[in-house]
Amino acid sequence: MKPIRIGLLGVGTVGGGTFTVLRRNREEITRRAGRDIVIRMIADRDVEKARGIAGDDAVVTADANEVVTHPDIDVVVELIGGYTAARELTLKAIDHGKHVVTANKALLASHGTEIFAAAQRKGVMIAFEAAVAGGIPIIKALREGLTANRIEWIGGIINGTSNFILSEMRDKGLTFDTVLKQAQKLGYAEADPTFDVEGIDAAHKITIMAAIAFGIPMQFDKAYTEGIAKLTREDIRYAEELGYRIKLLGITRRTPRGIELRVHPTLIPARRLIANVEGVMNAIVVKGDAVGATLYYGAGAGAEPTASSVVADLVDIARMHTADPKHRVPHLAFQPELLSNVPILEMDEVETAYYLRLRAMDKPGALADITRVLAERGISIDAMVQKEPSEGEDQVDIIMLTHLAVEKNVNAAIASIQKLPLTTGKVTRIRLEELGGK
Ligand code: NAP
Ligand code: HSE
Repeated sequence: MKPIRIGLLGVGTVGGGTFTVLRRNREEITRRAGRDIVIRMIADRDVEKARGIAGDDAVVTADANEVVTHPDIDVVVELIGGYTAARELTLKAIDHGKHVVTANKALLASHGTEIFAAAQRKGVMIAFEAAVAGGIPIIKALREGLTANRIEWIGGIINGTSNFILSEMRDKGLTFDTVLKQAQKLGYAEADPTFDVEGIDAAHKITIMAAIAFGIPMQFDKAYTEGIAKLTREDIRYAEELGYRIKLLGITRRTPRGIELRVHPTLIPARRLIANVEGVMNAIVVKGDAVGATLYYGAGAGAEPTASSVVADLVDIARMHTADPKHRVPHLAFQPELLSNVPILEMDEVETAYYLRLRAMDKPGALADITRVLAERGISIDAMVQKEPSEGEDQVDIIMLTHLAVEKNVNAAIASIQKLPLTTGKVTRIRLEELGGK
């Protein structure tokens, strides 16, 4: 059979890894795909670097437009990242009848609806396994393996850089800036690393998973996003003392009032497997009504783990290339005309448990005032610890875990607690999820 001819846009971390994996495992991959997969053209701003990687195997150009319009190219692999050029090149490739493989979650979370509609019209495939959780085949699992289930919720560590930072800070006592620099050097971080530490990259990924899990359009603009920059060592330590770990989680959940879509630092019980996922590794728990809770674990970033997903998409396309578009797996798992318009819940309406840390005078009545404010808002306390005051101090740290409460009630209670005469400073609030099988 004729080979599938690839045009590769970008030979950075992932593009370079894709080249390496395709070259090293060529024989195995051909036996699986049923035909050769060959990189015919490469576009990168740095032509010399691209030539160094490709040798004489591929035509190299600085102009990506040449690749996406070239008649000899069957599949365009977009690995340049970003929104503007990536969107234009992807739409142009589709317009020229090319299938597209991309690792670009930012592009899909923001412009996925437009891109999938264009691909649908042209009868071409958009494959994006590498866009979520690097090497973990979570898109395949959600779209195909779990297709019998009504998905109830997904909770995941889906940003390797921030998990790496949290792990190194806790284990080695390193500063945030030192660990971030290491992550950038290792090729884990996004071009703009604030995407990693502010939770934006994780929000892109949870947006994509929510769309596939619930059959809804991509709605990145409605995702609630909070990063790890404000986490303190005290909170990490207090959480541990109470039997919890703090992780940056992406969470999406089906509720009777709408769909939760959120990213924030989260306490999770230390006994859960996912709480012990360290470094750049990612893990995702998916709860389906039939299967129960399932866990997917693996490298969430890096050249070859991500290339593993890119090449898997290429093999899928090589196999499905000639199939009638109506008989392929739909891009978002559900038939495009049957997507649901169930709303995304405002963060104020989300119900979860909370860790609260506050400082109060070590005087009679202080605790009573605080618990009264919580009770007035219908917030029930699950556990409470009052730390000993330091030598010569008259203030103490109080740590509380609540039962499930509605976010807007917790925010109102925090505002009231901060005004009490016997409390000082700001209340720290971190959400808590059990992530159990129920
Ligand atoms: P990268 O190392 O920065 O590589 C991107 C390459 O594309 C660079 O060589 C860049 O050149 C080139 N480029 C950018 N714009 C171009 C244009 N318009 N025309 C030609 N070449 C262009 O990025 P990466 O880490 O491989 O990431 C690529 C994509 O994969 C991103 O969407 C990212 O979010 C995603 N991803 C990355 C990982 C990971 O572990 N790194 C994991 C999963 C998904 P310059 O350097 O000169 O700009
Ligand atoms: N910057 C991302 C991360 C790369 O750290 O997880 C993988 O998407």
